Amino acid sequence: MSNGRERFSKLGFILAAVGSAVGLGNVWRFSYVAGDSGGAAFLLIYILCIFLVGLPVLLAEFSIGRKGQQDVVGSFNAISPQKPWAIGGFLGVASAFLILSFYGVIAGWVVYFLYSYVTGATGNVGTGEYGDFFGAFIGGAAGPVFWQVLFMIFVVAIVFSGVKKGIELSNKIFMPLLAVILIFLAGYSLTLDGAGEGLTFLFTPDWSAFAQPGVYAAAIGQAFFTLSLGMGAMITYASYLPKDTNLPSAAGTVVTFDTLFAIVAGLVIFPAVFTFGLEPGAGPGLIFITLPEVFNQMGGAGTLFGILFFFLVAIAALSSAISLLEVSVAYAMRKFNWTRRFSAVVVGAVVTLFGIPSALSQGGPLSEFTIFGLPFLDAVDTLTDKYFLPLGGLVIALFVGWGWNKVDALKETGLTNSALGTAWIWFLRIVAPLGIAVILLLNILG
Ligand code: PHE
Ligand code: NA
Repeated sequence: MSNGRERFSKLGFILAAVGSAVGLGNVWRFSYVAGDSGGAAFLLIYILCIFLVGLPVLLAEFSIGRKGQQDVVGSFNAISPQKPWAIGGFLGVASAFLILSFYGVIAGWVVYFLYSYVTGATGNVGTGEYGDFFGAFIGGAAGPVFWQVLFMIFVVAIVFSGVKKGIELSNKIFMPLLAVILIFLAGYSLTLDGAGEGLTFLFTPDWSAFAQPGVYAAAIGQAFFTLSLGMGAMITYASYLPKDTNLPSAAGTVVTFDTLFAIVAGLVIFPAVFTFGLEPGAGPGLIFITLPEVFNQMGGAGTLFGILFFFLVAIAALSSAISLLEVSVAYAMRKFNWTRRFSAVVVGAVVTLFGIPSALSQGGPLSEFTIFGLPFLDAVDTLTDKYFLPLGGLVIALFVGWGWNKVDALKETGLTNSALGTAWIWFLRIVAPLGIAVILLLNILG
C-alpha cells in the first residue's frame, strides 16, 4: 500500500515513537508532579493508569494511524467516512498546536540552562541564589523568546527534512545518546549520601495519598501527556508504518521505555535533592532551581552533571517537539495540498508566534495578563492537559471500541481471535472511557 507517503523503517518507527514519548514529561513534569503528589503513592497510581488506560489507547492510536494512512483528521475519515469521529482529529490538531506552543518555551529554558552550564555562567551563582537566577531569566522578555525561537528552529529543521531523513535519523542518534547519559547520571546519583532517602520517597507509598482524588487526576493527566496520547502524535507516526510491523509489541516497547525513563530520571533527581536537604515538592521549578542548587553543591562534578543533565533534557524535548509539530504539518500538507517544507516553515512559525505570550507570561511583561486567573502558559497547559488530552483519548477509545468494526480493528492490530484482542477491545469499550470520564468530571467540577 504505497500512496506516495514516506515510510519509517521498523526500528525507525519504534525509536521515533519512543522519542515522542520520552520528553519534558518524563523529567521536568514527572519529577515535580511526583514530588508534589507524595512520590511513591503517585508512582503506583500512575503505573496503574499507564497500563489500564495508556497502553490500550496507545495501541488504538497505532491501529488507527496505520489503517488510515493519513494525518489524524484524515485517518478518522478514512476509516469511518461521513461520521463525526473526525472531531477527535480536529481536537488532536488543536491540542498538538497548543502544547507545542508552550513546550517550546520550556524547552527554551532548558537550552538556556545548557548554555549557562557550558559557558560557566552558572558557576557565578551563589548558594541559595538559583531561584533568583531562574526568576530573572524567565521574568525577562528577550531572553525567554530568544531561546524559545532557537529551539523551535531546530524543531522545524528536522520536520522540514522529512520522515526518514529528519524524524527517523534524528531519533536514531538521540535515543541511544539519551539512554547512555541517563544511566551514567543515575549511577552517579545513587552513590550520593541521600540515595536511600530518595529511594524511599520514590518507592515507599504514603497510603493516605490514595484517598485524595487529586492524585488520580494528576496521574491520568500525566499518563496521557507522557505517552503523547490523546492528540494524534502516535496516529500520525503510525500512518508512516509499513503493514508488517507488530503493533502490540511496539506499544509495549514504547510504554516500557517511557516508564523506565521516568523512573530512572527520578533516580537521578530525588537522591540528589535529598542529599543536599532540598524540597522534593518544589513544583515546576524543581529541575530549574532545586537541581542547579544540587549541582552547585557538588563542586567540580556539578558542572559536568549540569551540562549532561540539560543536554539530555534538551534532546528529549526536541524528539518530542518534532512529533507535536508533525501532527499539524501532516494535517496542513493534506488539507491545503502544501509541500512538507512549506508546511513545516509556515506551521512552525505560527506555533512559535503563538508561544510568545507564554514565554512572556512567567514574570515577564505579560505576567499580569491572565485567563481564568492563570498566566498564559499555565492556562494553555491546563486547558490541554486537563481537558483536551483526556477528551481526545476518550474519543479514540470510544472510536476503536464502538465506532470501528470490531473485526477490522482486531485485524489491523494483529489480534484476531486472541484473548489479548478481546481484552483490548473491552478495555477500550468500558475501562478506559469510564476512567477518563471520571477524571474529566473531577477536573471540570474541581
Ligand atoms: N510525551 C511527551 C513528553 O513526555 C510530550 C508530548 C505530548 C509529546 C504529546 C507529543 C505529544 O514530554
Ligand atoms: Na513521556
